[in-house]
Amino acid sequence: ASSTIRCEATEASVYRETVETINLDWDNLGFGLVPTDYMYISKCSQDGIFTKGELLRYGPIELSPSSGVLNYGQGLFEGLKAYKKEDGSILLFRPHENALRMRMGAERMCMPSPAVEQFLNAVKLTVLANKRWVPPTGKGSLYIRPLLFGSGTVLGLAPAPEYTFLIFVSPVGNYFKHRALYVYLCMITSEEVSYGKEQTNRWKYAFQEGLAPINLVVENEFHRAAPGGTGGVKTIGNYASVSELVTSVEQVLKAQKRAKENGYSDVLYLDSIHKKYLEEVSSCNIFVVKNNIISTPEIKGTILPGITRKSIIDVARGQGYQVEERLVSVEELLDADEVFCTGTAVVVSPVGSITYLGRKVEYKNSGIGVVSQQVYSSLTSLQMGLTEDKMGWTMKL
Ligand code: COI
Repeated sequence: ASSTIRCEATEASVYRETVETINLDWDNLGFGLVPTDYMYISKCSQDGIFTKGELLRYGPIELSPSSGVLNYGQGLFEGLKAYKKEDGSILLFRPHENALRMRMGAERMCMPSPAVEQFLNAVKLTVLANKRWVPPTGKGSLYIRPLLFGSGTVLGLAPAPEYTFLIFVSPVGNYFKHRALYVYLCMITSEEVSYGKEQTNRWKYAFQEGLAPINLVVENEFHRAAPGGTGGVKTIGNYASVSELVTSVEQVLKAQKRAKENGYSDVLYLDSIHKKYLEEVSSCNIFVVKNNIISTPEIKGTILPGITRKSIIDVARGQGYQVEERLVSVEELLDADEVFCTGTAVVVSPVGSITYLGRKVEYKNSGIGVVSQQVYSSLTSLQMGLTEDKMGWTMKL
């Protein structure tokens, strides 16, 4: 059986192969890989020009043991989402931003990168080829993971002579799923009293995708990035080093067990110089609210310029909030009225508690404050096509 579809395949022919419905438990999606039908691959040699990509059946790829990515970590990734609207059409959220961020990161990592147009076409093609894996409206989204890595062989330290641009996708629900159920239950018990039908539906969407409070622990020993390093780009190495994957399996299990026992969802990093200013959580950016003023660490090379971060800043300003991008100290965090995290995967996650040097601060209403609810609701309504997109952020497929 043929295992590849060339890019020249028309949308209709790809569609024909993918209309068959799949049996997935859409109500219980978390953030784990669900393998889909196709992935996209394009390669680029020393001429810097990427081949016309092709769709292959999703599966293992061949990689030389001496590839640049395996030996020297020359690799980047991106993350974006596709949502199904109630009319069946599919919306991408700000894919141009991911294309531009990949180009910026590639420049830092000495890699050629696909042109914005190729990136966008590749994303569209991959999503359409996996159309049946986009969750129904309100049940989650299709997470799109573009990768760019040195697949050519090296031995001495040098940029790889060949690069691979690959995109795979997976249907996803809540990143911090275990907490979402709790929030949903709180909401449905109070919603009959306080909310109308439209708001009720929004809460149901919230349960599936994002508004789940998390408990963070401030990391006091390790740092995510240093000035002059690669903290500001989405290189793969930034993530292994902060997720404890670099330690032994035994330590990973131990750390996981300890974190679980203590109820932490993720780790918040401080700057490596003063050990005082907030940087980011290992999987998302952070916002602090005090007296209705929203503050978030400024972009200065050590934190990721999140696309959700940038969108939330605009959404909040549009709602009349003052938003400051600046140094935010750990003391301000502990003294905040409300704290929330943003990211493609986590969407908006209110912070229920922060633990710093053994002291635990719990925020009001399990952390689900007015600001996080408002920005969550505005952002996700836009992403799901429930409200008019005046910003031109969504791209309809
Ligand atoms: C995303 O939010 O898309 C990310 O890349 C973060 C990752 C740790 C899941």
